[in-house]
Amino acid sequence: MKQPTPSIASILIMVTTLLPSFSAAQGVLLAGDAESGASIYKDNCMSCHVDQFGGDGSSVMTRDPRIVNSIEGLMGQVARCNAMTSAGLDSDQEDDLVAYLNETWYHFE
Ligand code: HEC
Repeated sequence: MKQPTPSIASILIMVTTLLPSFSAAQGVLLAGDAESGASIYKDNCMSCHVDQFGGDGSSVMTRDPRIVNSIEGLMGQVARCNAMTSAGLDSDQEDDLVAYLNETWYHFE
């Protein structure tokens, strides 16, 4: 049996339905709220960094070399550290944490 080839029209529909979801996902990342991230960090993240790295725990974010070198790396590490907590933070809260950590320590574009 001959496989139906997708028509130009169906390809166009796919492209136009996919594009808005890409920009929406980007919007969510950029919409992370640093102020809310700060309190999520204090409540769920800081004590373990203090235990393991001393001081106020922030030396893990300023050490040289640090493991996070890009905004994507920061998102990945926040997700990994979230998995180590039993807090079960959702992706909005992870976005807030990324915004807070980036604004405070990483300053990625
Ligand atoms: C159970 C302990 C623990 C908890 C809880 C924890 N972390 Fe971490 N975090 C670590 C350790 C250990 C490292 C260093 C990992 C390494 O060197 O591979 C780290 C590293 C990091 C880094 C990377 C620092 C670098 O080198 O650039 C970030 C960012 C981070 N944590 C964010 C968070 C956030 C956000 C939370 C809260 C959701 C959190 N952590 C909760 C233990 C923890």
